[in-house]
Amino acid sequence: MGKDVIIACDFSSTGQVMDFLDLFGEEKPFVKIGMELFYAEGPEIVRRIKERGHKIFLDLKLHDIPNTVKKAMKVLSLLNIDMTNLHAAGSSAMMQAAVEGLTRPDVTRPILLAVTMLTSIDEATMQKELLIGSSLSDTVMTYAKNAASAGLDGVVCSPHESPQVHASCGPNFLTVTPGVRFADSSAGDQARVTTPAEARKLGSDYIVVGRPITQADDPVEAYRRCMNEFVGGLL
Ligand code: C5P
Repeated sequence: MGKDVIIACDFSSTGQVMDFLDLFGEEKPFVKIGMELFYAEGPEIVRRIKERGHKIFLDLKLHDIPNTVKKAMKVLSLLNIDMTNLHAAGSSAMMQAAVEGLTRPDVTRPILLAVTMLTSIDEATMQKELLIGSSLSDTVMTYAKNAASAGLDGVVCSPHESPQVHASCGPNFLTVTPGVRFADSSAGDQARVTTPAEARKLGSDYIVVGRPITQADDPVEAYRRCMNEFVGGLL
């Protein structure tokens, strides 16, 4: 599976995201649509971006009883997205149901990823509030293994976790990693950041990059810089 840069299109309206994508002309980056844009504009935003020729990671992080997630995934599969996700905390049964729901009649399906532990939850919160007694790192790795056993394709994780995830779940189990910044830019609200080149060295399969591209003076130049650092030398 090829490495790629996914642009997090964290905009709140169709107009904003279309203006942004227009900057790229004939170039069609892989884009991530999150809850904000999807809940504001509905499935139509997915269809419109797909029609323009972009691959789409629909980042809705499903988490419910298996039957509900299966039916929701079936609806998402009809949108012709390329990648989507769920919370591994929903259990192996929920993840297996999601794979079934997402699989189209022709047996193809979008890439399905699991979110292990949200990066906003630290070990103290996990142990004291969620009453999960293990270490954060053991929990992340166990959730990743559960996802692999349930038939998912990979996890969303920090680039720093990529080597261990690949060691535990196999080299073909995907690591899709946010928290990426250029060496010369500020981290913003991301606690631990990695450059695109470091993410590549750590073995990330895809990097998810938002503000370093969307808020750049020249977003197209920033995207190409990311592609060069992360994918360039591999071509
Ligand atoms: O702007 P920035 O590059 O920080 O955007 C990163 C994107 O990845 C955002 O859409 C954010 O919600 C998402 N994300 C993250 N950390 C996670 C999971 C998702 O930053 N652990």
